[in-house]
Amino acid sequence: MDTMIRRGRESDLPALRDILNHYILNTIVTFEMVEMSLENRKTWFTQFREDGRYQLMVAEKSNEVVGYAASLRFHQRPAYAPSVMTSIYIHPNYLGQGIGEKVYSALLENLKAESEAHRAYGLVVLPNAGSVRLHEKLGFKQAGLLSEGGYKFGKFHDVRIYEHRLN
Ligand SMILES: CC(C)(COP(=O)(O)OP(=O)(O)OC[C@H]1O[C@@H](n2cnc3c(N)ncnc32)[C@H](O)[C@@H]1OP(=O)(O)O)[C@@H](O)C(=O)NCCC(=O)NCCS
Repeated sequence: MDTMIRRGRESDLPALRDILNHYILNTIVTFEMVEMSLENRKTWFTQFREDGRYQLMVAEKSNEVVGYAASLRFHQRPAYAPSVMTSIYIHPNYLGQGIGEKVYSALLENLKAESEAHRAYGLVVLPNAGSVRLHEKLGFKQAGLLSEGGYKFGKFHDVRIYEHRLN
């Protein structure tokens, strides 16, 4: 069955929380360390709109929410406002089926149409071959490396900064 891409809704939050929590608890792809609660996800959800810088797109397959891509505030200092940080997670049972590309492309198309959003940054903890390929395929360029920029599961990890020049 085809993957449907649509705006995220509040009713998606339990599924989105579960997908993210899998990666928080078991992998270094995210530097979050503690499981997210539903309350936390509800607060997170309040930042999204159907236009502007901060948007949430969801992938659904056979009525199941199987992933999402979001644009978030990049940095709290106000002059960074035209730059957004992106975030993408696909359910572990649905990897490598083109869903990440579909949902991320939809988010980027929305952002390209927004004059308020000028740059998108993806921070990829290395190694992450799938995320590296996806960012490069969708037009992100390497903008830098945070050498041992994070510490999780008893080790330092490098982080590659990917930049998309939206406008
Ligand atoms: C990274 C992620 C979003 C990619 O989504 P996906 O649906 O699995 O990827 P797609 O099927 O859309 O594939 C997109 C491209 O990446 C490639 N790819 C996907 N997984 C790959 C892997 N593990 N190794 C190498 N290439 C991979 C695909 O082959 C495709 O490239 P191609 O068209 O040249 O063949 C997904 O694997 C994921 O959610 N991973 C865990 C969370 C994560 O790492 N998020 C990103 C944090 S920066």
